[in-house]
Amino acid sequence: MSGQDASNRATELRRILNEASDLYYNEGAPPMSDAEFDALFQELRTLEDAHPALRSPDSPTQRIGAPLPRGSRFETAAHLAPMLSIESLTSASEVRDFAARAVRHLGLDEGTELPWAAEPKLDGVSASLLYEDGVLVRGLSRGDGAQGEDITQNLRAIRSVPLRLRGEPGALPSRIEVRGEVILSATNFARLRDESETTTDTPFRNARNTVAGTLKLLDPTTVSRRRLDFVCWGIGHAEGLATRSYAELRERLQGFGFKLSRPFASCSSIEEVITYHDGLEADRDALPYEMDGIVAKVDDTELQRRLGRTARTPRWCLAFKFAPRRGTSRIERIVAQVGRTGAVTPVAELEPVELAGVTVRRATLHNWGLLAERDIRVDDVVEVERAGDVIPAVVEVHAARRGPESTPTAPPDNCPTCGSSLEAEGAFLYCVNVECPDQLRGRIIHFASRRALDIEGLGPKAVDQLMEAGLVETLEDVFRLPLRRAELAELDRWGERSVDKLCDAIDGARHPELARLVHALGIRHVGEQTAKDIASAFEDLDALRSADEEALCEVEGIGEEVAKSIRRFFEQPGNLKFLAALHEAGVVPRRAVANEGPLAGRVFCFTGGLSTMSRDEAKLIVERLGAKTSASITKTVTDVVAGAKAGSKLDKARKLGITILDEDGFRALVDAS
Ligand code: IVH
Repeated sequence: MSGQDASNRATELRRILNEASDLYYNEGAPPMSDAEFDALFQELRTLEDAHPALRSPDSPTQRIGAPLPRGSRFETAAHLAPMLSIESLTSASEVRDFAARAVRHLGLDEGTELPWAAEPKLDGVSASLLYEDGVLVRGLSRGDGAQGEDITQNLRAIRSVPLRLRGEPGALPSRIEVRGEVILSATNFARLRDESETTTDTPFRNARNTVAGTLKLLDPTTVSRRRLDFVCWGIGHAEGLATRSYAELRERLQGFGFKLSRPFASCSSIEEVITYHDGLEADRDALPYEMDGIVAKVDDTELQRRLGRTARTPRWCLAFKFAPRRGTSRIERIVAQVGRTGAVTPVAELEPVELAGVTVRRATLHNWGLLAERDIRVDDVVEVERAGDVIPAVVEVHAARRGPESTPTAPPDNCPTCGSSLEAEGAFLYCVNVECPDQLRGRIIHFASRRALDIEGLGPKAVDQLMEAGLVETLEDVFRLPLRRAELAELDRWGERSVDKLCDAIDGARHPELARLVHALGIRHVGEQTAKDIASAFEDLDALRSADEEALCEVEGIGEEVAKSIRRFFEQPGNLKFLAALHEAGVVPRRAVANEGPLAGRVFCFTGGLSTMSRDEAKLIVERLGAKTSASITKTVTDVVAGAKAGSKLDKARKLGITILDEDGFRALVDAS
């Protein structure tokens, strides 16, 4: 290929690939299969290897750069326009006053309503991206507002940061600072936390801290793996872009390929802004991102210009915060608690503090290593945080407010519950006695908890009472409780109604969704999100139990360590006995709604690569036709589709005598269905 041809082809490939990943990450609508994408990506990489001069900064091959040397520091650079803060308000009356002040400042009649644009205030870390002629040339952290750290490498590694703005070169702004929030979705945060239980020594305390820590890393590969997101909320300096309102600016930014904060509302009065705030606050646990309030902007660029700014904040933009999930308290005691895995962890007993409507009295201190490292002590004044359904945690210590007599708390020498010896594993201490009553207690509480089997009435207090009365001595005993109504009714403070309610709740939990049951099992490293990932890949518990490490690793979101942990769980005789007991008690996960369609009742397993479509596409096709898919070969699999380089699954399928289709056979079947 001539130099000119190579250059033309490279330009074309870059355009196709950038457009495809933009559609994939920002619109959720991939225009081509993974296999096609990979093939084009490979072609571009080969071209660039042969002609290194073609390697441009907006090439998708350059998204993830090389790690910086250990110990390096980021350079600082000046923002073209300062990054201001916004006025933070906490009550509706403050919001009304803010709006009234703006009306006065504009010299309008009292009571005039301004147009407002309202959107969630995302709780992340802000960043500013500089584009020149449509190409991302630099990314800065906010810093002190005038200067930020050059974290371009890390920002580029975020998939939703466009390396090149979408649009015809002539129609793009010649220079623009695009600003927004780097965030981590609740799902991706949950996944990281599931995995981190014992793998890292610093737990991911909340999504925001994780983002802040991740953007400081020197290795963009890790940044990329953590699946951060960039959501923009405005611009700084801009040349060649004029918009009349924020709503219009949002549309332009979206057109360039950015994600925007949602849900967005155009409000024609400040009361509408307040209603929007209240509605969102009530829903905040259901939203995919952590948000700490809403932002409302006067939705008229000319009015914004006339309103101008004070030293620190614009007069046209306000934040109306939600009730805080973070508050100040004092540690009354530090106690050791034995969890369901036998981990003995420090817990802070606190002066009660109200966090977003919930009174918090206890907070986790994670582990003894971290307790020592962060030097948290009894009597300390601390910041406590509660995010969604996460257990409240101590996130900060006001060490300066500490008295002279304060001393650190040492870890216990023996299990505080059963007195057995403790074993250290990493930063954790474990009680070696599998029959330790607190381990069982922890397992039952977890098993019945809202996000597991959701057995109402079986909270910590009831569990304590049932264990004390000898009604529950093993986890599976829970399902025998409905046979022992008379004994239940004799318990202190239990009336017939509460017995009925508990028994109904237990009976109602006999057919849980597979994901809930997998979560309830309490497999190490398998939290709620990982359990969902697993449930979508396996037909039932049997399929999961017989999946080998390789098959488990193929499930999106499961890495080697998690796969090992799952295998270990199913290899322990005690656990198998427990599963059998559950089965005997009639606990069988609910099947997904029986699908209809020409392939209903069949279960497909794919192995090897297909040439005309990606595996995900193939799965989607058979699912649309009513079939199910399985990540591994099990008794329930009816058809195996073997593409190029099919591996050990094919041998296994042959041994089990399962129908094997090649790609042509598969296509023929699909076309005929
Ligand atoms: S608008 C002139 N909109 O909150 C500044 N900010 O506390 C305009 N933030 O610095 C900012 N979501 O980092 C705006 N939808 C949103 C936001 C948002 C989060 C952050 C941003 C800002 C901080 C102010």
